[in-house]
Order: sequence, then C-alpha cells, then structure tokens
Amino acid sequence: MRIAILGGTGDLGKGLALRWAERHEITIGSRFREKAEALAQEYLRVARENYGKDYLGKIRGAENGEAAEKAEVAVLTIPGRHVLSLVSGLRGELDNKIVISPVVPLGKEEGCFLWDPRVLTDNGHLSAAELVQARLPRSRVVSALHTVSAATLADLGRRPEADVLVASDDRPSAGIVSSMVEEIPNLRALYAGPLRVSRMTESVTPLLLNLATYAKARNPSVKIAEF
Ligand SMILES: NC(=O)c1ccc[n+]([C@@H]2O[C@H](COP(=O)([O-])OP(=O)(O)OC[C@H]3O[C@@H](n4cnc5c(N)ncnc54)[C@H](OP(=O)(O)O)[C@@H]3O)[C@@H](O)[C@H]2O)c1
Repeated sequence: MRIAILGGTGDLGKGLALRWAERHEITIGSRFREKAEALAQEYLRVARENYGKDYLGKIRGAENGEAAEKAEVAVLTIPGRHVLSLVSGLRGELDNKIVISPVVPLGKEEGCFLWDPRVLTDNGHLSAAELVQARLPRSRVVSALHTVSAATLADLGRRPEADVLVASDDRPSAGIVSSMVEEIPNLRALYAGPLRVSRMTESVTPLLLNLATYAKARNPSVKIAEF
C-alpha cells in the first residue's frame, strides 16, 4: 500500500515509517522537501539494517501535498494545533482516501494533563478526528494509535504488547487500518465504535501521562482485560 506520513519528519512519523516500511511504500511528508528527503534516507538506512540487506522497501521524502496526492492512506502525524490548517489545504489531495488521525489534543493545568480540543479550535468539544472529518468530508477518517509511544515504535527491537483503540464512521476503513496496526508485532486493534468515540480514545493519552506522573507507571499503555 502507498502510505503518506504527513509531518513524518517528527517522532511518531519516524516510528510508523520504520514499522510499515517492511511491507509498504512510504512517503515521508513535510513542509520542506529537503528535510523530508534527508530523513527518508536516514529511515531507509535503519530499515535496511533491521530488515536485512535484501530489503527492497521504499521510503521517500516529499512535500506534504505531493505525499498526500500519491497515497492510498495518509497519516496525520502533526501536532494538534496545526492539523486543521494542514488538512484544509490538502482537501483535494485527500479526497476519497483513508486518513488516519493519531492526534491527541493535549492540555495541561497545574501539572495535570487533560484532553483539551480547544487546542484545535476555540469552540471545540469535538475530538480532533471529528474536526478533521468535518474539514475533509470526502475522506474516510480513522482515529487510532493515540496510545502507542513514538519511541517504542522507532526501536525496532521492541515488541510491547498493547491494544490500539480504533474509531471510524467507515467500518471497512477501520478494518484496513486495524490490519495495518496488527502488522506491528504484538499490537492488537480493537474497533471501539464510530468517530465520536474518538472523544474518549483521544483522552486516554493524557490519562496515561497522568499515571506516569502520579502513579509512577513506566511507559503505560492500553491493554483491555477480558474477564
Ligand atoms: N509522540 C508520540 O509518542 C505520539 C504518540 C501518539 C500520538 N501522537 C500524536 O501524533 C501527532 C504527532 O506527534 P509527534 O510527537 O510526532 O509531533 P512532532 O514531532 O512535534 O511534530 C511532527 C511534525 O509536525 C510538523 N509540523 C510542525 N509544525 C507544523 C505546522 N505549523 N504546520 C504543519 N506541520 C507542522 C513538523 O514537520 P515539518 O517541519 O517537517 O513540516 C514535525 O516534524 C500529534 O498530534 C500527537 O498528539 C504522538
């Protein structure tokens, strides 16, 4: 599959690119072509070291618009406060495509992490993924990957067991994204419901950050227990 990782020059983009490069054609998107090309070369070197010298995968760099245009699936690895302006400028390029939102609107009050969609828009009570869907009415937005740490993904030797909560109004697209998630060793995707459920799944990340702070939990993630 052709996957564009928009803002793929950052932490989460690197981790996802390294994991998905084993099987997919990856384009690292950036506001700056040269930056994207340089990091794509760097990720390719790491992928070759890990997947063996016969590895034939493709990782290239491009501006976000070009990356989005050529992709079948685009991932928004962009800080919350910038994501709506970015997608508003890429409506045509993202039409009829799956768009994955791992975006967590993260606020902080008196040292406590909070889910705060006002990071994206002043009058917000909707999730980041719903706001993205409203800006991209002809795309199929899937909300996922909020609780997987970028550092863990980028360390290809690590295979932490965790669940990834997936929300989307388009069930087939959620299925495709779930398969992509489960290509990453030891991750299990769970469909949690329509896109409005993203208000809850996005808010799990600040909860985990608070557990790291107050309960001293080390690298906390999500694993749903079934009794
Ligand atoms: N880090 C994590 O562990 C993690 C885990 C789960 C979910 N997330 C979510 O994933 C998203 C990305 O997180 P991250 O830690 O990878 O972010 P990041 O490293 O801080 O930034 C990612 C990229 O965003 C681009 N960017 C910055 N300002 C921009 C602007 N004004 N317009 C357009 N692009 C801009 C930059 O790319 P260029 O300069 O190359 O354009 C940057 O490399 C966030 O929404 C976060 O909530 C992160």
